[in-house]
Amino acid sequence: MSVSPRNSLSAPEIVAPDGGLAPSTPSGPLGGATTTASEPASEAASETARTASGTFSAVDESGTGATPRHAADLIVFGGTGDLSMRKLIPALYHCDRDGRLADETRIIAMSRGGLTDADFRGKVDAEARPVPEGEDDEGWQRFLRRLHHVSVDVGGSDRSGWGALSRLLAGYEDRDRVFYLASPPMTFGPFCREAHEAGLVTPRSRVVLEKPLGRDLASAQAINDEVGAIFDERQIFRIDHYLGKETVQNLLVLRFANAFLEPVWNSLWIDHVQITVAETVGTPGRRGYYDHAGALRDMVQNHLLQLLCLVAMEPPSRNDRESIRDEKVKVLQSLRPIVGSEVDRFTVRGQYAAGDDVPSYLDEPASTPPTEISRRVETYAAIRAEVKNWRWAGVPFYLRTGKRMPSRRSEIVVQFKDVPHAIFPGATPNRLVLRLQPSEGIHLLLMAKEPGAGEVALRPVPLSLSFAETFQSRVPDAYERLLMDVLAGNPTLFMRRDEVEAAWRWIDPIIETWEGSAALPEPYPAGTAGPAGARELLARSGRTWHEEDL
Ligand code: BG6
Repeated sequence: MSVSPRNSLSAPEIVAPDGGLAPSTPSGPLGGATTTASEPASEAASETARTASGTFSAVDESGTGATPRHAADLIVFGGTGDLSMRKLIPALYHCDRDGRLADETRIIAMSRGGLTDADFRGKVDAEARPVPEGEDDEGWQRFLRRLHHVSVDVGGSDRSGWGALSRLLAGYEDRDRVFYLASPPMTFGPFCREAHEAGLVTPRSRVVLEKPLGRDLASAQAINDEVGAIFDERQIFRIDHYLGKETVQNLLVLRFANAFLEPVWNSLWIDHVQITVAETVGTPGRRGYYDHAGALRDMVQNHLLQLLCLVAMEPPSRNDRESIRDEKVKVLQSLRPIVGSEVDRFTVRGQYAAGDDVPSYLDEPASTPPTEISRRVETYAAIRAEVKNWRWAGVPFYLRTGKRMPSRRSEIVVQFKDVPHAIFPGATPNRLVLRLQPSEGIHLLLMAKEPGAGEVALRPVPLSLSFAETFQSRVPDAYERLLMDVLAGNPTLFMRRDEVEAAWRWIDPIIETWEGSAALPEPYPAGTAGPAGARELLARSGRTWHEEDL
């Protein structure tokens, strides 16, 4: 049974007409870089810093974060690649369609492809059109006209491409200029250096770095240093697209704009937390990347740890760009290190073997044959983490993620404890399920009496809030929100340097132990729920993973 959202959890008025979160006073829930009463614009703006490009003014202190007001140039390095074609272009189109791009805003793809503007527009039209022909044809054509392409060989000896980009950008120095690096992390440093040498890094420039940032703490620090030599920290936007997902943002609203949860949001009432990101997809064509990443670097170091932070963080004193990030860093710093023999006890890694009609990880189509590294890489990871602080002492946070799972499901499950004194037999503890995908929503599993005379029979029933049903609007893709935040200069939902490095500091010992171990990841057939070890990780304390479809 599912209780109708309108009769149950009433839909809070939090969605602004533009799809962003409307501000409450003095700064809105996740409204982002709103200037608060205690942080006057002048004071915030005076926090300037020196970079290779001089004093910057890249952060719009007074913006709502939802709709950039100025024309901008968005330069996407890796602009013809998978991320750009699958995510960025469709997201930008939707923003344009919703009227959130200024008329003169340009999108400039950079690649080594040697394409003309017309070639690139044709490619986007053929491969990345997010709506069928016949729908919004005029809008789509207008969007295509925003697109440009320049061929640049970053790291190569031929600098002529930078000249072409300079000519395209000449005369637009006063615009917001965003360099979006949708490319491997080792290109970040060289790109920033060359852009600076070409004189393209203006005071109004920002740079967006895609994850994973490095492959361990040392490489992340080196990249941060290289990028930091050109851009100030406040101009650097490290993206984790999970932070742009509606449910993830709603988690903060749920926690900090409602009173009823806070008193029970601690170890007195919560037994444990599960964070799951399960995907049905495998890694066809991605072995080159995935062999060197694995589930831990690809998903846990960033997406899952960010979710953990949002569940575990203390209430920030304000909704501004630093307060939320300050609280997240404290959580990462409170994670109990998992080292030495504990790695075997508290972590599980697996790799998918062949399943029904699906090849094993090693047999996935790839441009090169599998190597010893391929045999050792994990496509599944589960970890029992602990946040060592007053609120969470003794509460396990179970994290798991895997490719080729039976169904696509990302969710956070907060499992409450048993009632202190049970008078009804058959009562099971409450669960709060925050479903990120598919079907974004929030479900609170309550015990209810089954109708009927005679003995009282109990059944857990969900009190459900479906975002799609309640708000009757398209749920925007995470990249839409985040791209608009970058263009508006709002870094609240982006990772700060200390956050990324704290996450690596916790992950590093696990990676080192895995890489130094003779054991291989535990195989699991594609299409099943992961290796047996993951079930044992919870079974040891009498717990089970939440598998229920709500
Ligand atoms: C990316 C990972 O960051 O996130 C991919 O590199 C993964 O391996 C993807 O498939 C999952 O994102 P989403 O939004 O589809 O859950």
